Amino acid sequence: MKDKIYLTTPLYYVNASPHIGHAYTNVAGDVLAKFFRLTGREVYFLTGTDEHGQKIKKEAEVRGLLPLEFVDKMVENFYHLWEVLGIEYDDFIRTTEARHERVVKKVLEILYQKGDIYHSLYEGFYCVPCESFWAKSDIKEGKCPDCGRPLDFIKEKNYFFRLSHYQSWLVEYLESNPEFVRPSTRYNEVLSFLKSKKLNDLCISRPKQRLEWGIEFPFDSNYVTYVWFDALLNYISSIGVFYEESKFKKFWPADFHFIGKDILRQHAIYWPIILRALDIEPPQCVFAHGWWLIEQEDVVEKMSKSKGNIVNPLNLVKEVDKDALRFFLLREVPFGLDGKFSSRALVQRINSDLANDLGNLVFRSLNMVEKYFSGFIPSRGEPLPEYKEVVVNLLDKYTTFMKRVDFFQALENVWELVKVANKSVEERKPWILFKEKKREVLENFIYSLLEAIRIIAVYLYPFIPDTAQSIYIQLGLEKELRRANLFEETKWGLLSEGIKIRKLPPLFPRIENI
Ligand code: MSP
Repeated sequence: MKDKIYLTTPLYYVNASPHIGHAYTNVAGDVLAKFFRLTGREVYFLTGTDEHGQKIKKEAEVRGLLPLEFVDKMVENFYHLWEVLGIEYDDFIRTTEARHERVVKKVLEILYQKGDIYHSLYEGFYCVPCESFWAKSDIKEGKCPDCGRPLDFIKEKNYFFRLSHYQSWLVEYLESNPEFVRPSTRYNEVLSFLKSKKLNDLCISRPKQRLEWGIEFPFDSNYVTYVWFDALLNYISSIGVFYEESKFKKFWPADFHFIGKDILRQHAIYWPIILRALDIEPPQCVFAHGWWLIEQEDVVEKMSKSKGNIVNPLNLVKEVDKDALRFFLLREVPFGLDGKFSSRALVQRINSDLANDLGNLVFRSLNMVEKYFSGFIPSRGEPLPEYKEVVVNLLDKYTTFMKRVDFFQALENVWELVKVANKSVEERKPWILFKEKKREVLENFIYSLLEAIRIIAVYLYPFIPDTAQSIYIQLGLEKELRRANLFEETKWGLLSEGIKIRKLPPLFPRIENI
C-alpha cells in the first residue's frame, strides 16, 4: 500500500467571500498535496466550509434569506475560487451535510454517555465575529481579547464539555511531541498558556431560543451545537469515522492541519482533547501560518472583512496569472510568519523572479534552439560542470524542505538552479560558440540548459502547475506532470535528441502596475 498523506485546511465561514488570507491556506495546502502526489503518496486533501453559527444566521437575515438558502449561495464563491486558483482537493465538506451532522450527533451521544458532557449555568461573554466564549477574566476593557470587538453578555443553562479534565494529559502530550504544533513559536505559545492557566470547561451548546441555526443536540432538542465543536469534527466526519471505518483507518491521523494562527487555541487545545475523550489518536501536526497584513494610512493590520481592507483574489487574477499569485504567496514570506501584502510587492516579485529569471531563461533558451538547431533538441550530453552539483543535491534539499513545509527554502533552492542556468548563458556566450562553429560544445551547452529548465519545471510544478506544464509542452514533451514521479522525472537526461520544441510567447510578461 502507498503511504498516505491526509492534509486539511480550515473550514471557511461562508458569511463573506474569500479573500487573500483564505486563498493562502488553500494554495499552501494544494502545493503540499501536489508535492506529495508527485512523490507517489496517496493524498487526501480536504477543504470545505463552516456553515452554522450566529454570524452566518445574522448575515442571512441581513440578506433576507433563510440560512440554508444563504449558505447554498455563498458556498459557490469558494468552489469557484478554488477552481480559478487550480486547487485540486480530494474532498470538500460542508458542515450542513448529513454525513457530518450524523457524526456530530454521534460524538455528542458518546461523550454524554461517558460523562464528559454535563448541563450547567453559563455566565460569561460571547464574541459573534469570532464565535468564541470568553470568561470575565479573559476580556480586555469589555472587548473580545482576540478581535477587540464588543461582546454579548450571556447567562443561561448550557451544556459543557470537560476540557479541564484533560489538561494535564495535553501538557504531557505536547511535552513528548514537540512537532505536534508548528512552527515552534506557536508550540511554545500553546504550552506556556496551558502551563500558566487552568482551562475552563468548554460551553458547547446554544439554546434554540437564542440560535436555531446549528446541529440539534441528540439528547436535548432545546439546544444546538456550538459552531466550533461542530466544525472541528469535520476532520474525522469527512473521512468516514463511525460510518466508513476502513476509510477512516486508512487516513486518520491527519498528517497536517493547516490553519491560521488566530485559530490555534481551537486546534491545539480543544481538538486534541475532543479526540482524546473519544479515544481517537491526535493529528500528527497542526501547522499555524501567519497573517497577510495590509498597510493603510500608516497602520499595518490583519486583512479582514470587518476592517474593510480585504484584497479579493478574483480581482487579482484578472490582472496577474493565477500561477504568479500562487508563487508570490509562498515565495514572499516564509510559511509561519506574517507578511505585508501590497500590489507593489506582487508586481516586483513577478517581474524579478518570474518574468526576468524564469521566463527569460526559458524564452531565450528556446530561441537559441530555434536559431542554432532549427528548433530540434540537440544530442544528449552530460550536465555542465557548474550545473552538476546543484542538480545532484537539489532533490534531497527540495524534498527535505517540502516535507518540513518550508516552501520558502524549497523555492530558494530551486532558484539556485535558475540562477546558475542564467549565469551559464552569460558566461559561456553561446552566440560566440555558434559564430565560431563550435557545434559539439554548443550542442552540449544547449542540451544541458534545456535539461536544467526541464528539471526546474518539475520542481516548480506544485507551485506553478500550468506554467510548469507549459514548459514541458514547449520542450516538446507530452508527459502530464500531474502524473509524473518526482524521483524519476528529475533524473538527468530525459530529453531526447531530435524532438521539435514548441516555443510560445514568454511565460510571464513584465507588468508595469496593477
Ligand atoms: N470557520 C473557522 C475555522 C473552522 S476550522 C474547523 C474560521 N473561519 S474563517 O473563515 O474565519 O477563517 C479561516 C482561515 O482563514 C483561518 O485559518 C484564518 O487564520 C485565515 N485567515 C483569515 N484572515 C487571514 C489573513 N489576513 N491572513 C492569513 N490568514 C487569514 O476561522
